[in-house]
Amino acid sequence: MDSSRRFQEWDTIVQSSGMIHDSDELNSPLLNQDKVSAVHNTLSCASCEKSHEINIPQNLCHECSKPLLAGYPLETLKNHFTPNLVRHESADGSRPLSMWKFHEVLPVDSLDESVSLGEGGTPLLPTIRRGPFSELTRCLIKDESLNPTASFKSRGMAAAITRAKSLGITEVALPSAGNAAGAAAAYAARAGLPCWVFMPVDTPITNIIEASASGAHVVLVKGLIDDCGKLVREGCERHGWFDLSTLKEPFRIEGKKTMGYELPFDLFDVRENTRLRLPDCIIYPTGGGTGLIGMWKAFDEMEQLGWIGPERPRMVVAQASGCAPIVQAWDLGKTHAERIENAATVASGLRVPAAIGDFIMLRILKESRGTALAVSDQELLDAQRELTHYQGVFAAPESGATWAVAKKLLDRNWLKPHEEIILFNTSTGIKYSQDPPRDLPVVDPSKTDWSQILETT
Ligand SMILES: Cc1ncc(COP(=O)(O)O)c(C=O)c1O
Ligand SMILES: [Zn+2]
Repeated sequence: MDSSRRFQEWDTIVQSSGMIHDSDELNSPLLNQDKVSAVHNTLSCASCEKSHEINIPQNLCHECSKPLLAGYPLETLKNHFTPNLVRHESADGSRPLSMWKFHEVLPVDSLDESVSLGEGGTPLLPTIRRGPFSELTRCLIKDESLNPTASFKSRGMAAAITRAKSLGITEVALPSAGNAAGAAAAYAARAGLPCWVFMPVDTPITNIIEASASGAHVVLVKGLIDDCGKLVREGCERHGWFDLSTLKEPFRIEGKKTMGYELPFDLFDVRENTRLRLPDCIIYPTGGGTGLIGMWKAFDEMEQLGWIGPERPRMVVAQASGCAPIVQAWDLGKTHAERIENAATVASGLRVPAAIGDFIMLRILKESRGTALAVSDQELLDAQRELTHYQGVFAAPESGATWAVAKKLLDRNWLKPHEEIILFNTSTGIKYSQDPPRDLPVVDPSKTDWSQILETT
């Protein structure tokens, strides 16, 4: 269908579903933008609900040391901030195509404040029905490798560094399994903030290169990510750095939630849809869980804004069997996860032995009627190869886990081949490729018999 017809159809749909409240507003996008800008107006604990001051730097809850979540004046925003507005203004250029197209529900007073490299707005690719994907009629890959720092971590860091800068923070620090370090370093460079990153010594070399190339102070640690976290905490106490650890500041999750805001818009474009809606199932490679928790938050906000109804996708946590704290807790019916000793997996982003947001993830799995599953390194590497070979998406090993988990759930009939399944490709395989492929033919162009080599390979 051509895009102008699609666009007209969109207008008809949003009008008939009552999403347009005043048609004149659509003709004055700048006026709308002025009216709807509103930074978050609450910051409350995800566990004890204690509210916290919003205009000063905050980390964990002062009462119970659990994560803080930002809240927005959704009842007021509802009158102006509509899917129609987002779509029209993105199309006419008065609203960015990046994740900041949802700036009304991001921690900025105005778009000028955002520290952005153009993150978000990534493609949702229908899988080609080929090889192991043949049976799947409605499977899609949300390809986050197209972000500025080649992973979904760009979104979280754009939001966190934006807020850190506007709150006057002068130096930031974080532990990272790799991709977060590269993203933090890039956005800190963009904002002109010094950045300290602590990474396990065996982090993929590309992540280390990426972080130091952006001018971050990189420290390699003989240990796991939570050992790195301890050093960051000490550094913050001693040197006054601001701690940007996953869920230990409230805004990385705000950036990540934009993946959830994008999905219904993406689905509208891909499908012959008649309304904004969510998929049947989302499979997400889970370490600290910010993406999963962020998307769930986005769905709740969208429902309060009147964009979607109460239906939710089944959320699936994909982990590596060498480090699967959420899977273990889920299997045992627990509300909190135990730390994994000697955590080991090639999927470095999944090597998070203890996650501070464990109880939120487990709550989401229950509420969404989802599940959690672990796969071996061999299974996730094979699945990574299949994503690359059959779909042309050079996936990260973490994303291999999502496809490996999907296959298991299909085998168990927990997933049906006709269901709408979203697989998250959170980063690119390029970042992990340390050895060139072996046994490639090498030819000498001056030799006339060069093509014979190809016949023997
Ligand atoms: C490529 C990749 N996928 C998944 C994850 C896990 O993400 P989250 O912490 O949001 O669970 C990470 C974290 O480092 C990652 O780098
Ligand atoms: Zn609390």
